[in-house]
Amino acid sequence: MDKIIKLNKGIPTLYERGLEGLLKECLQSGNIVFTDDIKMAVEKSDVIFITVGTPTLGNWEVDLSQFSEVINEICKYIESYKVIVNKSTVPVGTQKCVKQLLLDRGVKKENFDVISNPEFLREGKAIYDFLNADRIVIGFDSERARKIMEKLYKPFNTEIVFTTPETAELIKYASNAFLATKISFINEMANLCSKVGADIETISYAMGLDKRISPKFLKAGIGFGGSCFPKDTKALVKMAEKYGCDFRVVKSAIEVNDNQRILPVNILLNYYKELAGKVITILGLTFKPNTDDIREAPSLYIIRRLLDMKAVVKCYDPKVSDKMKKIFPNIRCYTNLYDSLQDSYCAIICTEWEEISSIDLDKVKLKMKKPVIIDGRNILDLNKVKDSGIVYFSIGRERQNL
Ligand code: UDX
Repeated sequence: MDKIIKLNKGIPTLYERGLEGLLKECLQSGNIVFTDDIKMAVEKSDVIFITVGTPTLGNWEVDLSQFSEVINEICKYIESYKVIVNKSTVPVGTQKCVKQLLLDRGVKKENFDVISNPEFLREGKAIYDFLNADRIVIGFDSERARKIMEKLYKPFNTEIVFTTPETAELIKYASNAFLATKISFINEMANLCSKVGADIETISYAMGLDKRISPKFLKAGIGFGGSCFPKDTKALVKMAEKYGCDFRVVKSAIEVNDNQRILPVNILLNYYKELAGKVITILGLTFKPNTDDIREAPSLYIIRRLLDMKAVVKCYDPKVSDKMKKIFPNIRCYTNLYDSLQDSYCAIICTEWEEISSIDLDKVKLKMKKPVIIDGRNILDLNKVKDSGIVYFSIGRERQNL
């Protein structure tokens, strides 16, 4: 309810640059209304989009409880033809199950069709991605619904892939798992670079010039986090398992990522041997910049390890502090980057926020007890750091004795 009130006042409930202006504009023009009156929403809609979360359960299976709740609610009010469009990432076969569920709940066959229309938006760039999608995927089994979807998406002038619901459901998993694998691949290359003194950035650049490879998602670092890659890779492995397929490549991508997320702690241990009582600063808490999301962020895994080793953890993030304090009450969060570095033995960069990329290295040196930086996102200029005399580790950009 709180969310609905806020949204109707034009206050976004998550952070994205440009979202507040767009929300206000749409409210003023009457193009958008937020309500918790499901009956009214269903009755007034021709097309109903389901966009709820589908998190991972402990056993890597997909938690469809929010999804089922929506179906159970909307089915009570369907009295005329509706196209029910699923945007949430759901296991293959869900479209069929939803159809059966609606029939079981007494919704007349002629009053609905179910479309699988997976979402490819990136957090923090959702507005741009929505307006400039690379492709739109529509899984359908009814010509009537297909025509409605085609008309709906026509103004976007984007290629629409029309296919079966099962194929559409798998396209989402295939895309996310492939991108996640690309990241894990480049991270393993980066770790090799650190051993042999090669440079991962030049390798990524040269690889990316090959049009078959593309330069995107080849940025080495401390691994992928967020609400999609970690859960979708696991869900795909689990789903494939059910059908007797062993997804070894994706399993390895997950394992590589699990290790990569805590790489800074291993670098730190190698350098100091003992971390108990030492102040360590985390710069950037979110799983990527321009969002306030910390789900599956590498910072979470690093902080947990550091606290296990009795280090004193200080944090800075331009958008997040309270959320992290709730998870780790013993950490100290700062609103000023330089204050978080006071007496620190090491700064670990976990997110490539603009203000972290452009830190004043002289100021950093003055604040820290020992000027040591582990740059988990390879954002600092190598020459500038070298000139500053700071002990510097990055991911695959120079030889490290790991
Ligand atoms: C992703 C997909 O890109 C999007 O299509 C899908 O709908 C949802 O999941 P998102 O999680 O918002 O989007 O973030 P994305 O920009 O893809 O980055 C995911 C993670 O990968 C971040 O932690 C990022 O730091 C990491 N990453 C990304 C790398 O480590 N290297 C890269 O080259 C790219």
